[in-house]
Amino acid sequence: MTDFVKIDRVHLCHGPTPLESMPRLSKTLGCNVFVKRDDCTGLAGGGNKTRKLEYLLADANSEGADTLITIGGIQSNHARQTAAAAAKFGFDCYLVLEDVSGTPKKDYYHNGNILLDQLCGAHIHQVADDEDSMFFAEQLKSQLISQGKKPYLIPVGGSNTVGSLGYIRCAQEIAVQIKAQKLSFDHIVLATGSAGTQAGLLAGLILENIDIPVLGICVSRDTQAQKEIVQALLERTLDYIGLPTSLAKNRVFTDGGYYGEGYGITTEATIDAVKQCAQLEGLLLDPVYTGKGMAGLIDLAKQGKLGQNILFLHTGGSQGLFAYSDVFQ
Ligand SMILES: Cc1ncc(COP(=O)(O)O)c(C=O)c1O
Repeated sequence: MTDFVKIDRVHLCHGPTPLESMPRLSKTLGCNVFVKRDDCTGLAGGGNKTRKLEYLLADANSEGADTLITIGGIQSNHARQTAAAAAKFGFDCYLVLEDVSGTPKKDYYHNGNILLDQLCGAHIHQVADDEDSMFFAEQLKSQLISQGKKPYLIPVGGSNTVGSLGYIRCAQEIAVQIKAQKLSFDHIVLATGSAGTQAGLLAGLILENIDIPVLGICVSRDTQAQKEIVQALLERTLDYIGLPTSLAKNRVFTDGGYYGEGYGITTEATIDAVKQCAQLEGLLLDPVYTGKGMAGLIDLAKQGKLGQNILFLHTGGSQGLFAYSDVFQ
């Protein structure tokens, strides 16, 4: 088996991130809700991509890269954190950002994450939502190579095996915190999109011999389509660290009942969840990912489907609130 701790990474994450109880939200829902605060990972506002980028940047360094390219929506948290990590380690950064139809437009193109991308010095290429952003990114990569640059292309959401390794570390932190705080959980709930967070977290829990069910609330796909993506990446991640892929069997749970009309389009339940967490706990969620994840948690917890003790993995993104002011006013 690969010695996981020996896999190279750069240091970006403020950690361990806290694992906190949410007493007022718990009282409202009639069960115990805790939050793992990965919104506090520290890199330019924090969020889940910090952990993935620790491994992706080490990989970029090992390939001698001097430039990072990545892809996302115009309000991508992943793009913001990539721009910040690039700045910190002296890489040039190119972001290929897709417009997302159906999103509120008043502040979408100049506030929130895109404002922070610009502040961090990233070069931004906007593409329409019917353009193939991966094709655009590949072309950009060839162009940069022809100019003598050494670009490293990070996939959407940083979700490949290398990026997923970051969430193995998160699972290890949770294992230590559960023991130290004498906690037990019936479910871990998180928002799932490009799948690396859920896949990495599950790989880490498997490595630590912890069998808490992890439920991914889908932000853009139905239950089965998302499950297949997470399952495939979990198997590849287990293989990468030298564990049998058979350990991935019956570990992936997803729920596609809360994403509404599509990626980036808020639902009433998302808006309510964001408001409830802010007003009960001073906890800032985001309109695209964690708001939907929490909307799922609230609904399922009220139906008694998540047990008495629930851990929500807060994956960050509150910077996106400033691009969605229309829907909160
Ligand atoms: C705030 C936030 N939460 C959750 C996710 C979903 O994580 P993943 O893409 O690894 O499934 C993202 C992805 O961009 C995100 O920005």
